[in-house]
Amino acid sequence: MSALEFEGVHCGYADTTVVRSLSGSVGAGHVLGVLGRNGVGKSTLLKGLSGVLTPSAGRVVWQGRDVTRLALHQRRAYGMSYVPQENIVFGDLSVAENLYLHFAQKEPRRYDEIFRAFPLLAQRQAQRAGSLSGGERKLLSFARTLALQSDLTLLDEPTEGVQPENVQRMGELIRKRCREGACFVIVEQHLDWMLSIADRLLVMEHGEAVLRGTVADIDRATVERHLLV
Ligand SMILES: Nc1ncnc2c1ncn2[C@@H]1O[C@H](COP(=O)(O)OP(=O)(O)OP(=O)(O)O)[C@@H](O)[C@H]1O
Ligand SMILES: [Mg+2]
Repeated sequence: MSALEFEGVHCGYADTTVVRSLSGSVGAGHVLGVLGRNGVGKSTLLKGLSGVLTPSAGRVVWQGRDVTRLALHQRRAYGMSYVPQENIVFGDLSVAENLYLHFAQKEPRRYDEIFRAFPLLAQRQAQRAGSLSGGERKLLSFARTLALQSDLTLLDEPTEGVQPENVQRMGELIRKRCREGACFVIVEQHLDWMLSIADRLLVMEHGEAVLRGTVADIDRATVERHLLV
């Protein structure tokens, strides 16, 4: 049984429909990778799955519950988390303040594993988050959401600007969470990384799915053809 299923989802802005009739699913312990050229609607799809946008048609079902019309905070209460593409760290707050924002109490244990993977976050806890580089801010927002230990995490281009060794560690942490039963939907441009962590792929063009299947079944050259400008 799939943990997350979306079926015939249409999503867009005001009068413009961007995502058209998209369907897909991800099971517990799995990663669904979403790929596609710039502007094809990948982020719009994640907004529809997270509740930032309400799909104008179709259904989003999470753990057997229809969440299509629920807002972001309501979906969060059911164990769905979302990291948008654009940075959402609070620049005037310290790294530590950003990391503990979601929690009523500062519990450093939540970050033991994350600090081991990314010592720079541990070392820079007192630093203003606004003074981090773009890639470091990406890492911070990834770390903060991973610490929630959600059953489903939607990640929009998490590796943009992140140093290669940290990109690899992000992948290791994601796969570890999968072994613990969590699942992920990840939009990503970095094809090698995506192929190394995803179970299934969904390739989009003009708001629609043009290719889908397991990583084992999909031929890399075919994916690349859909990504070339
Ligand atoms: N807030 C918005 N209001 C109106 N149109 C938008 C908005 N955000 C995105 N769009 C449009 O929706 C289309 C798809 O954008 P989207 O951000 O989903 O693409 P994407 O595949 O994530 O692109 P990228 O790879 O550049 O992140 C684009 O034509 C874009 O201009
Ligand atoms: Mg995008």
